[in-house]
Amino acid sequence: MTGKFITFEGPEGSGKTSVIKAVKEYLSNEGYDILTTREPGGIKIAEKIRDIILDKENTEMNAHSEALLFAASRSQHFTEKIVPALKEGKIILCDRFIDSSLAYQGHARGLGIDKVYEINKFAIGDHMPELTIFIDVPPEVGLNRVFSNTRKIDRLDLETIEFHQKVYEGYMILTKKFVDRFVVIDGTNPVETVIEDTIQVIRTYL
Ligand code: TMP
Repeated sequence: MTGKFITFEGPEGSGKTSVIKAVKEYLSNEGYDILTTREPGGIKIAEKIRDIILDKENTEMNAHSEALLFAASRSQHFTEKIVPALKEGKIILCDRFIDSSLAYQGHARGLGIDKVYEINKFAIGDHMPELTIFIDVPPEVGLNRVFSNTRKIDRLDLETIEFHQKVYEGYMILTKKFVDRFVVIDGTNPVETVIEDTIQVIRTYL
């Protein structure tokens, strides 16, 4: 496969969606063939699974089904959209991927990072992102942003602050576990700076 697979991670309200949009525009203008996508979602089946997982009414969903649904949506998204794009030589900018499952379900829900990694290996084999941009904002700052802007609030946003602190702690573990592919960007800076820093990292990588 000749393309490049780059993922973006961060707590709620880290601003990664705006950063991805700006990076896509910049790299496209430079002549790169870019595909942006997101998880959970990105294709019809996975968007349907997303609706089930994030529905605020589904309060009875247990941690195991949640982890399996994320992995199921990832499997479909990976084979249907990411693999073909990699074969076509595209640069993929993916809003969340396996590390979200490791931080949220593995660490914050307490299923265990290694256990959730195993389920995901069943879903996508040994494929991992080549570069992961982690946009670092403390959970309180991110949640404040989420609740003061217009984005739709979902089931996971409504988890306790302790849960979101665990998510952040999970990400900190991952930055050390996958030191070869994780790059941490300070997400508390103004958005223009976050975008510039991210472009710099990706340009160096490419
Ligand atoms: P988003 O708000 O960035 O679109 O992500 C949707 C929510 O789903 C967010 O709260 C993070 C969560 N999530 C997981 O818990 N595990 C996963 O594997 C993924 C991809 C997302």
